[in-house]
Amino acid sequence: MFANRLLADRTIFLTGGGTGLGRSMALHFAELGARIFLFARREPPLRETAEEIRRRGGQAAYATGDVRHPEVVEAAVEAAWNAFGRVDTLVNNAAGNFLARTETLSANAFAAVVGIVLHGSFHCTQALGRRWIAAGTPGVVLNILTSYVETGSAYVVPSACAKAGVLAMTRSLAIEWAPYRIRFHAIAPGPFPTEGAWSRLMPTREFEERARNFHPLKRFGRHEELTHLAVYLLSPMAEYLNGECIILDGGLWLRGAGQFNALTELPAAVWQQLEAARKK
Ligand code: HXC
Repeated sequence: MFANRLLADRTIFLTGGGTGLGRSMALHFAELGARIFLFARREPPLRETAEEIRRRGGQAAYATGDVRHPEVVEAAVEAAWNAFGRVDTLVNNAAGNFLARTETLSANAFAAVVGIVLHGSFHCTQALGRRWIAAGTPGVVLNILTSYVETGSAYVVPSACAKAGVLAMTRSLAIEWAPYRIRFHAIAPGPFPTEGAWSRLMPTREFEERARNFHPLKRFGRHEELTHLAVYLLSPMAEYLNGECIILDGGLWLRGAGQFNALTELPAAVWQQLEAARKK
């Protein structure tokens, strides 16, 4: 679907790219010619992803650090600039999340998730945005949200609050920084199996099975289904998109929204009875 070197003129600063969807995006972007700078806390997964990109003929570098600290983010952005001469794209992908009853959360637990997701995305966006504005060069920011960003969700309150904040930032800066030719996109993924999210958010095998059965398409997302959308959004094909959040969940959130959606469980025989009764 995509031309071979579609992202060849892109240098992408991607947070949290050592594992999960971040890793999948990094590999796909690099395959299409982008230079990738990864930034996350743990070194081994970053090294592994960077080595994999290089092994496949791409260019990658990384820095370790915590997105919660603005001075650490600033140093990583500086390192990316030194590595590649410039950065023109930011992917705010790093996240933290866990299932918990809200009344049991410590203040620090709330702050940890909001710090990573909301403050971290802000620090990265501001650090790169300032440079783009000063240099007069365009930029693209892609924020990875979650399908409950608009509705909220029980048992993940810190994440729901933080992601909603990042959506507000996406829409606010889409206007504020449009004069600088800095555009914003967001993807709100539903369930995509990754070790990080699954180990924290799928408490049991049975719950996973139930989640799959509840899904309108009876399956979870495939990583390439997300990375393809991300590639499109970062490509020149999407230059008229700005400030939009695309929910990529196979229709799962709509299933929860419609008052009669649970009737998909109704056997055909019951529908036939209902229809027969109506015709009388
Ligand atoms: C309650 C918890 C907790 C849990 C940690 N805490 N885990 N509270 N339930 N399961 C509390 C700790 O007790 C501590 O509070 C505070 O949170 C900080 O924890 P630390 O481990 O010291 O902090 P830190 O190393 O910064 O860890 C941050 C983290 C952790 C978010 C808590 O889980 C993490 O590093 N996650 C990164 C990876 C990740 O979460 N990936 C999945 C993202 S999936 P006290 O008071 O004791 O000091 C995702 C997608 C969502 O976001 C959409 C899915 C459909």
